[in-house]
Amino acid sequence: MAFTPDLLRGRAALVTGGGTGICRGIALAFAAHGCAVAIVSRTLEHLEPTAAELRALGVRAAAVAADVRDGPAVERAVGEAVSQLGRLDIVVNGAAGNFICLADQLSPNGFGTVVDIDLKGTFNVSRAALPHLKAGGGSILNISATLQYLGTIGQAHASAAKAGVDALTRSLAAEWGPYGIRVNGIAPGPIEGTEGVRRLTTPASRASAAAACPLGRMGTIDDVAQAALFLSSEAASFITGVTLAVDGGLWFRSDRLFRNE
Ligand code: COA
Repeated sequence: MAFTPDLLRGRAALVTGGGTGICRGIALAFAAHGCAVAIVSRTLEHLEPTAAELRALGVRAAAVAADVRDGPAVERAVGEAVSQLGRLDIVVNGAAGNFICLADQLSPNGFGTVVDIDLKGTFNVSRAALPHLKAGGGSILNISATLQYLGTIGQAHASAAKAGVDALTRSLAAEWGPYGIRVNGIAPGPIEGTEGVRRLTTPASRASAAAACPLGRMGTIDDVAQAALFLSSEAASFITGVTLAVDGGLWFRSDRLFRNE
């Protein structure tokens, strides 16, 4: 372990999308560092196996079903998580939806669905958690992306949503800092073994991403979980409004003008 096992002892976190993928990894890493965890997604079947893994790590865990697009359902889910865990210190907004589709083939509802899940969902959960986070100070971590830094083809919907998430990270950091609440983001690059990579890449594109990455490989769920531990802990107590790219330097690396072969 890079951090001491009691890094988050006594804290409680709510992680949306925490049943699977990157956010399951974050939830498990939090639990391994002493944090009680509530995981939220649309269906309990996605959550129960991970909730059992969390409990096996010796922490309190709750599985709560809610669609992050549904404001009243999110309010109820946050209330349920707090009543089961007794407090709330950390929120991870990880629930997301995505697919590849060129903008000229994308319906308005397709565009809106991804914006609703990623961007409105992040607002809904953060807003519902605010009164609880205000009680003792806290941390919000928004899972973003690097797609929106460049003109990523087939990703107008997700890029617009994640650019909004990054803006929300800064606005909420500015507004809620005086309450002792830090708001940061993580922008993962392609992370192996995730639903996102399965949906958005091919074996060939994964190989070329690893080859283009300055650090020479795809990302792992653990790479993101370690960054989440840092940003959610006291080690980052003076860091807010930042979105940290966890992509091995892939997004800014370019050979458009010169390729050294
Ligand atoms: N290409 C183009 N449009 C698509 C699409 C695709 N692959 N998948 C869905 N859409 C469109 C639908 O056609 C629909 O628009 P329409 O009513 O104009 O036809 C709209 O998006 C909503 O689709 P629907 O299936 O009703 O949405 P949903 O709320 O059930 O599911 C999604 C949301 C589409 C994001 C779904 O992929 C999902 O649930 N994803 C969660 C997991 C995930 O994406 N993980 C990866 C994260 S990186």
